[in-house]
Amino acid sequence: MTLDDMKRASANAALEYVPTGATIGVGTGSTAEFFIEELAARPGLIAAAVASSEACAAALRAAGIRVLDPAAAPYPLPLYVDGADEVDPELRLIKGGGGAQTREKVLATAAELFVCIVDDTKLVERLGRAPVPLEVMPWAAAFVAERVAALGGRTAARPRFVTDNGNAVLDAMGLDLSDPEGLEVELDAIPGVVECGIFARRRADVVLVGAVAGVRRLSGRRTP
Ligand code: 5RP
Repeated sequence: MTLDDMKRASANAALEYVPTGATIGVGTGSTAEFFIEELAARPGLIAAAVASSEACAAALRAAGIRVLDPAAAPYPLPLYVDGADEVDPELRLIKGGGGAQTREKVLATAAELFVCIVDDTKLVERLGRAPVPLEVMPWAAAFVAERVAALGGRTAARPRFVTDNGNAVLDAMGLDLSDPEGLEVELDAIPGVVECGIFARRRADVVLVGAVAGVRRLSGRRTP
């Protein structure tokens, strides 16, 4: 079984949570793309989708799925399905490998149920193996880097990367993630930071983990 098979299996398992005829939020990344393929194979299952990025919107449209403008979507959404870069045992996440964490966090927070789909390489005992992506106003990047250094971290600017919002991404490493909720608040409070990739305050409700042995379901506080 390949990594892609595991991603596909977790994406397929997420179909169980999709309310027929609903408008749902859809995430960004390779695992979310497998979920879009699953939706495409079931025309009419959903009425429409709200995309977490322009890449996701393009993939949804190519799959024949109606895409709603996030500025005019019917909130709250019943469901948001997305991947992650890291998942800890409390279902807190690091996201933003694709630089889409701002819209992803809005949609996850706007959803009654957040189902996260990953392969088992994403599971960690403690967040922090992956860098924490920070979407920043481009002109504030040097200031934000200095503030992250004051918190004990270091940053690398993502080369030639511009977010859908026209911003830059700094990948922060070396931060103390023993209190992910506290660090999320602290990073998001730095002026010039649009959104950080820690999803601790709005963590996943359900994580579907694709593995060689099959799909394992981890559920947190708000299971269906
Ligand atoms: C994009 C994300 C993705 O969900 C995350 O990077 C995981 O991607 P993949 O499914 O390709 O491993 O947060 O901003």
